[in-house]
Amino acid sequence: MDFTHIAELLDTSKQGKKASIRGWVYRKRDLKKRIFLVIRDSTGIMQVMFDPSKKKLFKTAQQVTVESSVKLTGKIRKDERAPGGFEFDPETFEIVGLSDIFPISKDKSTEFLLDVRHLWVRSREVTAVLRIRSKVFEAIHEYCHSEGFHETHAPILTPTACESGGDQLKVDYFGQEVYLAQSWQLYAETLIQAIEKLYTITPAFRSEKSKTARHLVEYWTAEMEAAWVKLDGMVDYACGMIEAVCQKVGKECTKELEVLGRDPKKILKIKRPFPKLTYTEAVKLLKKDGVKIEWGKDLRTLEEKALGKHFEKPIVVTEFPTDIMAFYKPPTDHDAKVAKCFDIICPEAGMEIVGGSERSLDVKYMKDRLKKAGEDLKWYDWYFDTRKYGAVPHSGFGLGIERVIQWICGLEHIRDAIPFPRTLNRFYP
Ligand code: 4AD
Ligand code: MG
Repeated sequence: MDFTHIAELLDTSKQGKKASIRGWVYRKRDLKKRIFLVIRDSTGIMQVMFDPSKKKLFKTAQQVTVESSVKLTGKIRKDERAPGGFEFDPETFEIVGLSDIFPISKDKSTEFLLDVRHLWVRSREVTAVLRIRSKVFEAIHEYCHSEGFHETHAPILTPTACESGGDQLKVDYFGQEVYLAQSWQLYAETLIQAIEKLYTITPAFRSEKSKTARHLVEYWTAEMEAAWVKLDGMVDYACGMIEAVCQKVGKECTKELEVLGRDPKKILKIKRPFPKLTYTEAVKLLKKDGVKIEWGKDLRTLEEKALGKHFEKPIVVTEFPTDIMAFYKPPTDHDAKVAKCFDIICPEAGMEIVGGSERSLDVKYMKDRLKKAGEDLKWYDWYFDTRKYGAVPHSGFGLGIERVIQWICGLEHIRDAIPFPRTLNRFYP
């Protein structure tokens, strides 16, 4: 008999029909005269009751332990007392893999759960996040294809710094020092001259020395780069990507959001247009709120949080001070002190989820900026060729996928948006 996923059975139309399920024992309650098992699969949970009248089944139920893998056939029946509102009357019951005593029971301290992350991933919360995570990736691919972008890949091992030399992870490359990529951007800027509109979903690396709830050392990013597109056009693509993700998750992950205590309606409200303000306007707004911030300093966690409180939708902040921006972000035409760039800050959590810009076409300007940052220009020669042979206006952005998941799922810490987080002091398991 074919196996049915539990979520498909939680439906009155399936009552009285024979079905087979398979999964893991999520809970066991042995009342001696009756044994209740809750079985979980990747889609949901189902209660099964055993009593001594079915001797063989009852004996197997006595033997089975929490987290054993099992197969059952039987019929579904409505029962308001059962979690999910249905109970399964078993006819056959087979243990596939008997579990040792499962280490996760009462001790749910953060550090312990991180030590046994390979087992904690089975929890309902993590399962829900993993399913939403998969949907986020699906939505990004769909959106990029629908807008005519081609999926393209860049190396992870690179000789250059894209963002800044400070937080690069070093790797020994047969005796030479190279870095794990902070971003695909510099390579993408050469590829636009071949295929014009491109995107990638890739791991990115930052040796973040600070312990915060929004920084990972290894994270995933969705990046877009396009020829002929100026700042406003790229801002709209970034907003479109966020909208596409929220609409898909809000519509197709209602059960998962419920497990996480999130209201899908809130997620479905995330539709363009998004509020837009310049950095200078943001600083004014923050000062009015009593936040101590000086013009010229980057927005930090504190300021982003304060801004997030003002809006119900993602906030586009443009024109950050040129001096604190990466070397490739050009000054605006009306004021050289600010750059043609943008960040998008999510509401609620209030954190940067997207960073992007138009790209400078002025090689001298970029070289000066790199020199000031102490970079060795010889590694950038290939990059400047993009400006030498038929340069075109272009722009791009990077979206932090775990940050988006953290916001949508309402997670306190970014490490719970990825199955095996890499943080300042953790690379195990
Ligand atoms: O703002 P960032 O540094 O921009 C770039 O890397 C550009 N080169 C992207 C581009 O234009 N193609 O990083 C992009 C996004 C941030 O907005 C943030 O969401 C996320 O990546 N991010 C991190 N997420 C988790 N942990 C970290 N340590 C992150 N650093 C950046
Ligand atoms: Mg940024």
